[in-house]
Amino acid sequence: MRILGISGSLRAASHNTALLRAAARLAPEGVELELYEGLDSLPPYNEDRDTEWPPEQVSRLREQIAAADAVLFATPEYNGTVPGHLKQVVDWASRPRGGEAALWSKPVAVIGASVTDYGAL
Ligand SMILES: Cc1cc2nc3c(=O)[nH]c(=O)nc-3n(C[C@H](O)[C@H](O)[C@H](O)COP(=O)(O)O)c2cc1C
Repeated sequence: MRILGISGSLRAASHNTALLRAAARLAPEGVELELYEGLDSLPPYNEDRDTEWPPEQVSRLREQIAAADAVLFATPEYNGTVPGHLKQVVDWASRPRGGEAALWSKPVAVIGASVTDYGAL
C-alpha cells in the first residue's frame, strides 16, 4: 500500500512534517509512506489555469495523489481552520469535477500536531 503524506506546514522545523516522517519510519511492512514535497511551489488555485495543460506542479500533485492508495494529511490549525496553502491542494486535486479528480473516492485521513491547548482541533 502506498500512502502520500501531505504536511500542512511549510516550516523547516514543523511538528506536522515530523509527524509524517515518524509515520513513514514506523509504517508496517508492505506500507510505504512518501512525503509530498511540492506544497511550497504549488500555485494558488485559478480556474483560468485549470485547463487541459495546468501548471506542471499541479500535474505532478495530481499524479502523486492518483498513484497513492490513500492520503494522510498532517496539519496545524491556522486561525480555526486549515492553512490556506493546504486548501490549494484540495482545490486543485478536486478538479476536474467528479470522477476524474485525483481525490475522487480517495481514502483520506487527517491528523494534526500543535503546540497550543487547542491541539489542532
Ligand atoms: C498564522 C497562525 C495561526 C495559528 N492558529 C492556530 C489556531 O487557530 N489553533 C491552534 O491550535 N494553533 C494555532 N497556531 C499555532 C500552530 O498550531 C503551531 O504553531 C503549530 O506548531 C504549527 O505547526 P507546525 O509545527 O507543523 O509548523 C497558529 C499558528 C500560526 C503561525
